[in-house]
Amino acid sequence: MAEDFLPIKGYDHIEFYVGNAKQAAHFYEKAFGFRPLAKAGLETGCRDRAMYVMEQGNIRFVFTSAYSPDHEITRHCALHGDGVKAIGLAVPDVEQAIRETKSRGATVLQKATSVTDDNGTFVTGTIKYAGDTVFRFVDRKNYRGAFSPGCVPIQAHGSLGVGLAAVDHVVTNVYLGEMTYWAEWFERVMGFTNLLSFTDKDISTEYSALMSKVMENGSGKCKFPINEPAEGKKKSQIDEFLDYYYGPGVQHVAMNTGNIYETVEALRRRDIDFLRVPDTYYEYMHKRVGDVDENWEELKKLGILLDKDDDGYLLQIFTAPMQDRPTLFFEVIERHGSRGFGIGNFKALFVSIEREQALRGNL
Ligand code: FE2
Repeated sequence: MAEDFLPIKGYDHIEFYVGNAKQAAHFYEKAFGFRPLAKAGLETGCRDRAMYVMEQGNIRFVFTSAYSPDHEITRHCALHGDGVKAIGLAVPDVEQAIRETKSRGATVLQKATSVTDDNGTFVTGTIKYAGDTVFRFVDRKNYRGAFSPGCVPIQAHGSLGVGLAAVDHVVTNVYLGEMTYWAEWFERVMGFTNLLSFTDKDISTEYSALMSKVMENGSGKCKFPINEPAEGKKKSQIDEFLDYYYGPGVQHVAMNTGNIYETVEALRRRDIDFLRVPDTYYEYMHKRVGDVDENWEELKKLGILLDKDDDGYLLQIFTAPMQDRPTLFFEVIERHGSRGFGIGNFKALFVSIEREQALRGNL
């Protein structure tokens, strides 16, 4: 097998551009159990933006907003609403990551840049991805600071996590006809392979359909499904996202937990809303998957979904959109061998999504 020209160690962070980073950080702390780790802003000498770095398990979220109306971040928020700007990938050598991806056709937005402070040297470089979303390569092996130069640590509030452990996958929605382009882009530019493909035959309801390709890096640590809408009777959930995000972007971030019952219970206590499937789903699914050693009553009570394939099974649940616009949402997932994405649940889920879409007058 050819050597991996882009060895990725894992997800480093996900940066969200938001209208009010202070309030977003508070929400993700109180509602999602993220612990404040570091911040930057006027009080730390950062003159153009406020940045809050939050962590839970191996997941790092960064919430950023700008202080002025003509700032790139402010314009991004005006256009897209709150959403994911950058997917940070940990690499051993940013210079090499930029060089290799550029030679294969990546659009470089920021070449490898080293910043040194008292805590060491922090290196980043950025390439363009779909829409206004970017991939940011990060090398922090020689950096001991809280997150990045310019950030100061936040005294922990003693916030309690909900058991979220790692980013499992990050899903992007693109326009009709663009999915294959981006799948090939991942292969050519990033050296990824196509793990799975779903057509509208697999994923359709009476009203809408979508197609999806899942791209995976060499080590299997990073997975990026790409969705595009397919022709349906009415507007698909992907079309709704594209209409409200005003372009392609990150639809959902899936996070692993070791105990989905506890995680979902904790999130429900904190008033996180999840998509609900009809109770009949559980009778149908119990019959379909047979003997899986899970508490079906609890699954039903909490609204957790289950899917099974040849490798094993998975448990998953999806939140409602996280902001006013029906755009970004989250998935909580617990894997038991399965490397899939819950295709067996898509249909039940879409009916549920479409019910909510209809309530918004967008179906
Ligand atoms: Fe997912």
